[in-house]
Amino acid sequence: MADLAAVILAAGKGTRMKSDLVKVMHPLAGAPMVAWPVETARQSGASRIVAVIGHQAETIREYFAGQTDISFALQKEQLGTGHAVACAAGLLGGFTGTVLILCGDVPLIRSQTLRAMAETHTASGAVLTVLTTHVENPCGYGRIIRGFDGRVIRIVEEKDATPEERSLSEINAGIYCADAPFLFEAVSRLGNDNAQGEYYLTDIVTQAAERGLRCSAHAVADPVEVMGVNDRVQLAEAARHARRRIGETLMLDGVTIVDPSATYIDRGVVVDRDTTVHPGVHLAGETRIGTGCIVESGAVIKGSTLGDGCVVEPGAVIRNCRIGNNVVVKAGTVMEDAMIHEHAAIGPMAHLRPGTELGPQVKIGNFVETKKITMGEGSKASHLTYLGDAAIGKNVNVGCGTITCNYDGVRKHRTVIGDDVFVGSDVQFVAPVTIGRNSLIAAGTTVTRDVPPDSLAIARVPQVNKEGWKLKKREE
Ligand code: UD1
Ligand code: CA
Repeated sequence: MADLAAVILAAGKGTRMKSDLVKVMHPLAGAPMVAWPVETARQSGASRIVAVIGHQAETIREYFAGQTDISFALQKEQLGTGHAVACAAGLLGGFTGTVLILCGDVPLIRSQTLRAMAETHTASGAVLTVLTTHVENPCGYGRIIRGFDGRVIRIVEEKDATPEERSLSEINAGIYCADAPFLFEAVSRLGNDNAQGEYYLTDIVTQAAERGLRCSAHAVADPVEVMGVNDRVQLAEAARHARRRIGETLMLDGVTIVDPSATYIDRGVVVDRDTTVHPGVHLAGETRIGTGCIVESGAVIKGSTLGDGCVVEPGAVIRNCRIGNNVVVKAGTVMEDAMIHEHAAIGPMAHLRPGTELGPQVKIGNFVETKKITMGEGSKASHLTYLGDAAIGKNVNVGCGTITCNYDGVRKHRTVIGDDVFVGSDVQFVAPVTIGRNSLIAAGTTVTRDVPPDSLAIARVPQVNKEGWKLKKREE
């Protein structure tokens, strides 16, 4: 569709949210509420988007930084929806196409609906088309008043309506299509002589009617699409619908979601086919999960990429990680800013901290903590170990209870372990220290000096057996 621009009204505070955060920035399935209509406007073919902002304008601007198709009109005082549109006029100066008007607090409108509305608009030769719907409880909405011939002649706000008008069930969704020249001229002529003393955008309907210009209505069947979010009860309700939509799209693309109502998948998450997502899972941020994966209950995955055939067990938390194919992340594991290569197995209850990179086939077992380490192909640390600031080669076996003593109280130091090293249980590496390839560190050794390749390092207090000691003790 040629020449479509969108204006998003988002200057209001959202008093009923009772929040320090401006209403339209409250997250809805992972994206601020206002990001939803902005994205929908794009999908509908709007080449330019103007957001009218006021409260916490900087927060909103910052969120959209780098999105070059969107510009911002500042409405310093919220004098009404008509005034808000007038504020956008400057940024659309010279634009003569069709303007879509959306609300920042009506997030679930679909692009199909907007496109259909724009088609009705063009086909009917109207200067203005209003999106309407029928609701059981029209309380709070503007009511659509139609003339004897069925045309829309006026919209009356709840507060200005007569009891008769209030009984009408067709409401104004607050979403419009308008010819730019008509729109900007009309909003410049609005008055505020009404119950709220505001410049109502809805009064441009009357202007069109009075000038003999056509105003059309486009009805939307599903009231969820035009549901406004004013408080946190409605926010939760909208989020439920948003998640249902996201889940349905994924399921139709071949993802099994065992219980969609108990699964929390954010907008923008990509899941490939034949992956199964169990109840209680959160998939958030820029997460991408490959084919044939299993994500079990209670796993939380944020901003991470998982290859094909991965298994994530219950309660795993994965943040900003890159994970290759066929990796198993076992129950209760927490990992952040880590990179894991194919066929690795992590956990249960491992803690991979930022800067961890694990090669193919690496095995990290229970109660192992890592930080800023690399570990080569096939290496293992199976139990109760702390590895920090270390470069560990291939096929290294790290015994139970191994500790890199990386911190001297002032500075961090590195431990370097060559390929094929065998580290016995209960070893401490007092860094900085380097272990040559193919060496063996005996159990219980505290390593304080470098170990050459192919060597045995052993540092233990020799054992003393005092025979009969226990019997003597008893006699005393
Ligand atoms: C508006 C409509 C009403 C419709 C309803 C649908 C008017 C006069 N009324 O009422 O007919 O049924 O939406 O949800 O238009 N905003 C600004 N600047 C302002 C005022 C509002 O940017 O000065 C923004 C708000 O942030 C919000 C949107 O416009 O995103 C709608 O404003 P709101 O005050 O919620 O209008 P309603 O009373 O709901
Ligand atoms: Ca509203």
